[in-house]
Formats: sequence, structure tokens, C-alpha cells
Amino acid sequence: MKKADIGLVGLAVMGENLVMNMESKGFTVAVYNRTTEKVRSFVEGRAADKNIIGCYSIEELVANLEKPRKVFMMVKAGQAVDSLIDQLIPYLEEGDILIDGGNSHFPDSIRRTEYVESKGLLYVGCGVSGGEEGALNGPSMMPGGSPAAWQYVKPIFQGICAKVEDGTPCCDWVGENGAGHFVKMVHNGIEYGDMQLICEAYQLMRDGLGMSAEEMHDVFAHWNETELDSYLIEITRDILGYKDENGEITVEHILDTAGQKGTGKWTAVAALDEGIPLTLIGEAVFARCLSAVKNERIKASKLFEKDIPVFEGDKAAFIECIRKALYASKIISYAQGYSLMRSAAKTYGWNLNYGGIALMWRGGCIIRSVFLGKIKEAYDKNTELENLLMDDYFAETIKALVPAWREVVAYAVKSGIPMPAFSSALSYFDGYTTAALPANLLQAQRDYFGAHTYERLDAPRGQFFHTNWTGHGGNTSAGTYNA
Ligand code: 2AM
Repeated sequence: MKKADIGLVGLAVMGENLVMNMESKGFTVAVYNRTTEKVRSFVEGRAADKNIIGCYSIEELVANLEKPRKVFMMVKAGQAVDSLIDQLIPYLEEGDILIDGGNSHFPDSIRRTEYVESKGLLYVGCGVSGGEEGALNGPSMMPGGSPAAWQYVKPIFQGICAKVEDGTPCCDWVGENGAGHFVKMVHNGIEYGDMQLICEAYQLMRDGLGMSAEEMHDVFAHWNETELDSYLIEITRDILGYKDENGEITVEHILDTAGQKGTGKWTAVAALDEGIPLTLIGEAVFARCLSAVKNERIKASKLFEKDIPVFEGDKAAFIECIRKALYASKIISYAQGYSLMRSAAKTYGWNLNYGGIALMWRGGCIIRSVFLGKIKEAYDKNTELENLLMDDYFAETIKALVPAWREVVAYAVKSGIPMPAFSSALSYFDGYTTAALPANLLQAQRDYFGAHTYERLDAPRGQFFHTNWTGHGGNTSAGTYNA
């Protein structure tokens, strides 16, 4: 019997769907699951009469694989992956490839790549986005790990992944060790930001402009035909138009407390570790946290009795301003996400392909959008772009959006409507475009109370000064350090 092109362990929905996807593209897949009953029900059900080989032990799975063997692990992130790696290693030979397609945290993938390579094997940590539907019909795939593994997994990955209109696959090699899972993590953080931006636009239209769900449905339908054309705008349009069996708008009956699984938080923590202002995604994570304290918010709303004014201007014109503000804020969010990836690439020694990353996100995943094509163009023009805002297209675009953006944020601030993502994005933009920030005063304060020293505008960088501010603090400085 023909051996399998690849093996897959972990027959939960994502795993099963990936197997069906690979098989449909002409690959033979051997499958195994810890609870072997699932193997049986799969091969007797969906997998019946397909090129799918059911295996009932790790040994049997490995024996059924073509060399170099490739094993796709689709098990729960965390300890399960480590334990599975240790179960597989004794059966594998030099050059065989272990692939983790779960939602692993990138430091784990860095560690596992080193460990697996130390055993003479190759490792791939692959971010897979697009949910169950994507797994079946074409996910966005972000593989990193041992570069030598790429040539072997490439035909399978690029065969099963999503494609953009011209057929280009939404999967390319991301970089060494944990780079794939890092980029997938940033993708998830950006997803948090995009969702929060849409929610703020919704709240401003609902509470500030007093619009109905039907009216907003029409607005999002229109927005989806502009630069904002994206999966998340599209599903928001559909959600706002969705009625239950009693003709009621479902979204209006949903409790306003958000859940989270932690990948947004990972992204924000990585940004703090790197010292990169990823303010919009940070605010998006905190907005979910704030939404969770519903009872406190109800109490506080009674205590502070905010009165949101009735909008008295040209509604249609203001809705267009909201659209522009959303677009501007979204550009900032991606600029910040890319800055984080640039910084991490330096820290971890990854040679990231920034245009390729935009292309991987262009289809198949939750943040897929037309706009990512523009980001790809920007990085294709200049792979060393220090910030997306420095690209001609984005600079010109933002310049044209700024007046509307300021108007929207100012209106929300005056009205008492929370817009953490819109406003933090604008603050970042204003900070980034200010040559002289007040950090001169900050340095003076640090030097005053802690003798932390400062550099001067009129002296070369790297030369540090200390002032005896009070006349009795002495002339000894605390030395310099980066806090
Ligand atoms: P199970 O069906 O035996 O629970 C998602 O939870 C997938 O991960 C399932 O296929 C599950 O297998 C698998 N999984 C979870 N923990 C595992 C472990 N420690 N070892 C192997 N597979 C595991």
C-alpha cells in the first residue's frame, strides 16, 4: 500500500478539517488520535473511501509515512505538544519533520525548535488561521522553524492554504524557530484591534447618532465597498442585519461582556517586552477587560449619570468622517503591529519577509482585507521601511484622513462616548509626528529625584549630564541605565 505523504495527530475539528483539505488536494494522510475511538469514527465516517489511513498507535502512524516523515500535530497548545513530541521522537529518524499547527506561544516554539533539532530532526511551528472553515477550504498559514524543513512541507502547505485572486498562496516561509507563531500572534492582536475599531464605530453611531441596527447594516454594507473592504466589516454588516425568529435584532440581545483566550494579551506583553508602543491593540485588550466588569459599570453609570447629547449636524457627512477615522486608526494599528515584528526580528534574529506576511494575511484568515495588498506593496517597495507611515501611499492617505479623524475623536470625547482605540491611535500619530516631545522635562525629573542624568540638545549623544537641582543633592549621579 502507498505510504502517506504526511501524518496528522489530533482529530478535533481543526485536525479533521485539515486532513480533509490535504486529501482533497491529492495528498495521502495517515491519522492518529490519543483517544483511538476518534480514529475509528473518522475513518468510518468522513474519511471513508478517501486516501486517509487510520492508525491506532504512534508507532503505526510513523510506519505509514513516506520519508522524510512529516507529522502535523494538531493537539491542544501547551504541555500536550511537548508530551507528543517526546512520544514521537523515539520512532523518528534524522531529517524527519515535526510540525505544530496549534496555537502555541512563540517562546515555546523557539524552545521546541532547538530541542527537536538537537535530536537530529526538523521542526516547524506553523500559525494556522481561519478557524474550522479555513482549515477545510484554505487557511492562512504562517510556518517558521527549521529552514531546511520548508522545501519538504512547502508543496503541501501551499497546496492547501487560501489563495488570493491571482492564485498566490497565503502561505510562505516566515522565519527561524518561533517566527511563525510570533507572526500568528501579531495577527491575532491585530484582529483584536480591528474588531475593537469596528465596535467603537458602532457605538458612536448607535449612541452618538441614535442609529438603528438596520441603518448601521446599510452603512457597513457601503463601507465594505470602500478601502475598508474586509471580512470583519462584512460579517459586521451581516450581524447587524440578522433577526431572530421573532424579528428581533439578535446583536441587541447579546450581553456586552467580551471574552478572550489570551493571544491579544500575548501580543501586548510582547510589545511591552520589546518596548514598542502597540497602543491600539493594548487598548483593545483592555476594552475587553473593562467590558467584563458589567456590574460595576452599571453602578458607575448611575453614579455619574452621563448625558450623551443628541447629534445636531449632518449625519451622512459625519458617518463618512467615522469611516475615515476608522481607516486612519486601522493604518496606525498595522503600523504598530509591523513595528513590533521589526523589533522582534532584531531581538530573535529572524529575517522576516514583511510583504510576504501581508500576503499571508490577505486571504483565509479573520483579518483578511483588500488593504493588506497596499501593505504588501509598501514593503515590496522598501523592505527596510521603518514605519508604515513613512510609505508614500500611507503618508498621503493619512494626511487626507486626519481632519475627519480629529473631528470624530473630539466629538466622542465631548459627548462621553468611549473610543479608546480611535483616540489612542490618534495620540500615537500625534506623538510620532512631534519632533520635540516633553521627555526633556521627564529626564529633568528623573535627574532631580534619582540623579539618573540626561543628554543635552547641544552636546553629542552619549554624553551624560547631572545637575545639582536643589543645591544640596550633591554632584554624584546614579549612573545611567535603561528602565
Ligand atoms: P483526545 O481526543 O484524545 O482528547 C484537541 O483537544 C485535540 O488534542 C484532541 O484531538 C485531543 O485528543 C488532543 N490532545 C489533547 N491533549 C493531548 C495529549 N496530552 N496528548 C495527545 N493528544 C492530546
